[in-house]
Parts: sequence; structure tokens; C-alpha cells
Amino acid sequence: MKKTISIDELKPGMKVVGIDKSWLETPFLSHHFLVHSKKDIDKLRDSGVQLVTVECEKPDVDAASRKDATIKTPLSEHPAPALEELPTEEPDKVRDVFSLQQETVRLLTRAFHQVRISGLLPTNEIRSQVRETVGFLLENRNAIALLSDIHDNDDETYVHSANTMFMASAFAIRHQMAEPECFQWGLAALLHDVGKTRVPDHILKKPGPLDLVEWEIMHQHPVYGFQILRKNPDPEIHGLAAQVAVEHHERKNGTGYPHHLGLDAIHPVSRSLMVLDIYEALTGNRIYRTRSSPQKVIHYLMNDYSDRVSVPVILELASMVGVFPLGTFLETEDGEIVMVQEYEDMQNYRGKMTVLKIFGAGKKLLPKPERKTIHQIDGGSVIRTYDYRAIGLTLDQWEYLLGKDKRIT
Ligand SMILES: [Fe+2]
Repeated sequence: MKKTISIDELKPGMKVVGIDKSWLETPFLSHHFLVHSKKDIDKLRDSGVQLVTVECEKPDVDAASRKDATIKTPLSEHPAPALEELPTEEPDKVRDVFSLQQETVRLLTRAFHQVRISGLLPTNEIRSQVRETVGFLLENRNAIALLSDIHDNDDETYVHSANTMFMASAFAIRHQMAEPECFQWGLAALLHDVGKTRVPDHILKKPGPLDLVEWEIMHQHPVYGFQILRKNPDPEIHGLAAQVAVEHHERKNGTGYPHHLGLDAIHPVSRSLMVLDIYEALTGNRIYRTRSSPQKVIHYLMNDYSDRVSVPVILELASMVGVFPLGTFLETEDGEIVMVQEYEDMQNYRGKMTVLKIFGAGKKLLPKPERKTIHQIDGGSVIRTYDYRAIGLTLDQWEYLLGKDKRIT
């Protein structure tokens, strides 16, 4: 049940699901969040919020507002911790990702608005935002995992572009590229959809599938993006960023648009960005559907989309987000190489994982593969992923190891 109350009635422990103004005017990226502390309430008040909509489960708003209230869980009679015992602060790193992302979204909102009016980008501000993000991710290499929490909003192009920029920068960092190169990846990702500024709102925000005419207009956004970025005086914007903007919807075997180029004919950044672009779009909330889990999206990319995008890039992405398709070879920090054979929960790629150890510590080939069951490997401990060809196996050998019924390509 939802209830709209005055900001003065809002208390820590309540879940806010709506406010009386645009979220962009507040420091919160999402309309759906738990109030952790009085600081959160002060931030809302300082932003001019007067009314908030909260979700009333057990306890309801009135109960939650009583100082001595305790939470009774629906399934148990055992009282949950008193409200005073709830954490009052989030970890600093979470706050940093949130604020960086919020700043990026705000900047992009203004920047795209400016492009619509004058055709010009606030280049210096954009550059410094990307530089700051890359610097942050270099210092906090696992912070990318926190992005998945930041999706609820109604201006999807901005959040999508900001998230894609975070992911592309992290992807480049993971490939041990030098900072200037990571910056170029981030910059190109942030601007890849700038051409949507020339697509009418009724198409961009249509709450349902587009018709043929609308698709035709939408399919022009890579070209529009190229035109906008090409005339920017900044060499990295009119160079790589413009190229990525026009190439990010091309697909393997020329099945993409606008120029029907194959993967070999496009820039490596575009080749990777197209996978990150799809992954971000499917894991984020969109007007016409809700998000899918990282597991489901990786599964989809490997099983249904690997004929259109680069498989090694999917595997690298899987490694980055800690989801490993069946048959993937993982190199761990201690030099072991194992092949993912089965998951406890096969539907969602979760739970314990059965792997075949092919190479032991120091990449020593074992005389016979060893099967073992392990808890989900976290993405941080996997330093590289390979497909069977990179390991030197034939398709038959790989299928034999995997079990024919689990063949993935
Ligand atoms: Fe796009």
C-alpha cells in the first residue's frame, strides 16, 4: 500500500517510492529508496521536496513513525531489529558511485539539451566528468558492481549513457589500458547515443514497440550522432567518439545498421561497446519492460545473440560482471584454468558451480581434468576468460568436456 505524507512525517526506515518533483532536482538518482538516516530526509527537504509517497508494508507509516517501533516480518513472529538499529550510513564507496553517476546524468541532461538547442556540447565539462570517473574506477576497481543498483528513472537515455560510460571505462581498465585510453573509451561511451537528441520524444519515450516508420527514424540516430560529434573541435570527440557513435549498432555479418558493416570493418571500441550497450539496456529498467538479471542477459547474449556480436567480448563482460556462461574457461589469480560445466541453478547461472580443472597452479596442464564443485567465483578473482579455441581445444574436445547436451554455440 502506498501513502503520500508530508516530508515532516518521513522517518528513517521508510521506503520512498515517489516525490513531488523531478528526481533530477534532488541528490537522489532513484525515486525508490530506503531512507537510511536523517541526512537523507534533510537532503530531500533541502531540494524543496514537500510531499513524499512511501510504501506501507509492515510496519505501516504510523507504526514506523513511533520511536519505539520494531519491525515484525510478515513470515515470522520474531521481531526484526528496532529502527534505531538499522544502518544509518551506506559505505563511502556506494555513495561515491551514486554521486558520480548522478553528476554524470545531470551533466548529460544539460549537455543533450544544449545540443538540441545549439548543436554544441559543453566539451570541457564532459571531459572532466569522464576523467573523474576513470580516476575513480582506477582507484576502486570493483565499484562497477555497484552500478546495477542505479537504474530506476524515467529519463533512460541519460542513465543508459552514464552507465555505459562507467562500464566501458571499467572494461578498458580491466584490459590494463593506459589511463588516456580508458578515458577515450569512457568519452566515446558517454556520447554514443547523442544522435537521439534529433529523434522526437514521442518515439524515444513511446511506451511500446515502435512501428516501421518510427524504427526508420530511430535507426538514424547513429548517423545523427556522427554528424553532431564530427563537427566538434575536440580531436577525441570528432575522432573516436564520432566513429563509435556511427558504428555501435553495426553487427556481425553486416546485419546491423546504418552501413551494414561486419565486425572486422569497425573500430575495436565499437565492437566492445555494442555488447556493453545491449547489456546495460537489458539490465536496466526501460519504459516498455523491466530489467533482466545479469545472469539472464549473459545467457541471452551467449545463446541467442552470439551470431551478431563478438563472443570474446561477451566473455570479457561476463568476467567483469561475475557471470560465466557454460563452457567458459576461467583463469584465476593463482594461475589455475577451469572450465564452467554446470550451475546448481541452471536457469539463473547461480548457486554452486561445477568446474573442470584443466590447468593447475602456474598453468600446468593436468594429466586428467579434475572435476570440483565450488561456490560462485567472484568476478574479481578471475583475471581472464577464454573460449575453447584460445585454450587450444577442438570443438569436439570441448563438447566432450562440456557434455553434448550443454553445447552453447
Ligand atoms: Fe544507440
